[in-house]
Amino acid sequence: MMELTYWRLREDESRIAWLTFDCPGTATNTFSSAALRELIQVAEALAQSTPRGLVIQSAKDNGFAAGADIDEFTRLADVDSAMAFISLGNEAFDRVAGLPFPTVALVHGFCMGGGMELALACRYRVADDGPKTRFALPEVLIGIVPGWGGAKRLPPLIGVAPALDLMLSGRGVDGRKARRMGLVEATTARRHFANAARAIIDKPPRRRGPPLEAAASGWPVMREITAAVSRRKVLEKVRPEQYPAPFAILALWKSFGGEVARMPADHPYSMQRLFAHPTTKNLIRLFKLQDRLKALGKTGGGAAFKRVHVIGAGAMGGDIAAWCAMRGLTVSLQDLSPDRIAPAIKRANGLFRKRLKQPHLVRSAHDRLIPDPTGEGVARADVVIEAIVEKAEVKRDLYSRIEPRMKAGALLATNTSSIPLEQLSGVLARPERLLGLHFFNPVPQMALVEVVTGPQTSAEVAAAGAAFTRAIDKLPLPCRSAPGFLVNRVLSPYLLEAMLMVDEGVPPETIDAAARAFGMPMGPIELADLVGLDICRAVGEQLAKPGMPEPQALKAHLAAGQLGKKTGRGFYDWSGGKPRRARGTGTVDLEPIADRILLPALNEAVACLREGIVADADLCDAGVIFGTGFAPHRGGPISAIRERGPQAWLQSLAALRAKHGERFTADPGWDAIA
Ligand code: NAI
Repeated sequence: MMELTYWRLREDESRIAWLTFDCPGTATNTFSSAALRELIQVAEALAQSTPRGLVIQSAKDNGFAAGADIDEFTRLADVDSAMAFISLGNEAFDRVAGLPFPTVALVHGFCMGGGMELALACRYRVADDGPKTRFALPEVLIGIVPGWGGAKRLPPLIGVAPALDLMLSGRGVDGRKARRMGLVEATTARRHFANAARAIIDKPPRRRGPPLEAAASGWPVMREITAAVSRRKVLEKVRPEQYPAPFAILALWKSFGGEVARMPADHPYSMQRLFAHPTTKNLIRLFKLQDRLKALGKTGGGAAFKRVHVIGAGAMGGDIAAWCAMRGLTVSLQDLSPDRIAPAIKRANGLFRKRLKQPHLVRSAHDRLIPDPTGEGVARADVVIEAIVEKAEVKRDLYSRIEPRMKAGALLATNTSSIPLEQLSGVLARPERLLGLHFFNPVPQMALVEVVTGPQTSAEVAAAGAAFTRAIDKLPLPCRSAPGFLVNRVLSPYLLEAMLMVDEGVPPETIDAAARAFGMPMGPIELADLVGLDICRAVGEQLAKPGMPEPQALKAHLAAGQLGKKTGRGFYDWSGGKPRRARGTGTVDLEPIADRILLPALNEAVACLREGIVADADLCDAGVIFGTGFAPHRGGPISAIRERGPQAWLQSLAALRAKHGERFTADPGWDAIA
């Protein structure tokens, strides 16, 4: 018998081998080199003993396997050890693929990265048909390629175009979608897994290839065209010098059959080059920061959140309520009258249909969202979220009326963007239960929630707020209560500076192009139009410092009722649904423009750090990236400062101050960054 730590192997009376992946001491299966070495051992032994078939399954509740052990991966000191890790995984999965009898992967929950590559190395896959099943090759999101056989095995299985789509986007598909794509043979409930596997081994189905049109894009004559078309699509989104990984995936597929080992080390898109690229380092750091934010939700003492009461069914409250109901909580939604709640319920149903798809899931989410004009739900809620008008006296009045009816341990959360908690807590008998949960607009798309604590908020309440945020699958960012918290405070001077440049006659197209060249997913002017110019002005006014100039173009658009995308016109013409860019940028040098709009944001990030709005530089970077989309490959504002060096940025800041005045005064916190 083999001694195994990560796997359990048994052969049943019908000579089927059952291999169970069960990493010790953790809730999630990941591939460390130790786990891979054991898998090699197992495959060697099975190749000798030749059972009738092999079934691979996971002992973990949350899924099959999440991918490579990212901690081991980031500890790998140099490119050579990273390459050794890659070839170890390839050896393990190739051995599984080479077994001379039917092999079946039984997949529930996460089946990501290396997990999916192991499933692909099996001849057959069966997936749980529930909504939690997720097949994905998300390597591109951390700057690398699916190097354990995914890029080699996926295209022949499901066809080139869908395979490239999954690899280039990192997007996940559930079991049903996977079956439609031909990624799995069958879907069934988990309790039927063993029978499904036995049926396949008893009578192995003939493998279907991908449908003709999906296969055709991989035929030799089509290969060049497919690669060129995909490359053009990728180029619309990212640049190779900033994000080499998607280009590497295309090169790997087109010229090397998806096999990393065949790509020469000096190829511009080799795995060796990817490992050494700063983008990869920053994206992996970001991945780990995301884990850190998730872990913040685990300190809440395991409080259970079942019922939420949301007050204010407007743009924010309506969507917050819908999101919570979608995530499985029972939600009562209150506003001044039923007709103010109705539009929110309608929007919620749209969200449920789009995200949950299956009619019975849509129906139960709908049933969990209860219109509650009289506020009955307050008394039963574990969390009350207030999202009414941004007026302190109206909020205070509401709190004094609802607090006596709240459960003893319930949290009271405000979604305020600007009112300090200490101005709201005075009316409460228990001011320590008040915290801010600052969601971003649009709620379904924005993962971050600033969990705001005032001086009166208790540590338990802050921790419970983070736990609640995780319970609804958002990312909690602990922030100190101060105007703008972190995200709006960093974003707002950036938008202001961009608008002031428009006043100086710089075309919006040029400003946005400069920001995109730096790596922002969208330029500031387009973003302002998207957020709504009225909201930009409101936030700008709250955060304005004395002597700050007022953007004139903004004023003119507002006076003309041009509020941005929502009215069809703002800085851009949005009548076609997208901003109509009237001109190109010509030969203008974009870097000084990018520096000028970025520096106020970087300066503000430095100030937030100095003032302790967030606890450290990592949280500052994570918050700004997840809350604003700040160029992820730069690693966030503080990281971007360190990359170029604080001195270089400070010189630009001084030059801008000489030209444009006080608003470019360096914050005293810069010294600490160096
Ligand atoms: P909104 O104006 O769309 O909705 C507010 C809703 O509250 C309205 O339906 C109104 O009828 C209702 N309401 C007012 N007083 C009430 C009361 N006493 N009892 C029950 N309902 C009452 O406002 P929006 O944009 O949803 O903002 C709500 C809160 O969220 C504000 O504190 C705002 O600062 C904050 N926020 C807004 C963001 C945005 O992008 N709109 C982003 C993040 C926070």
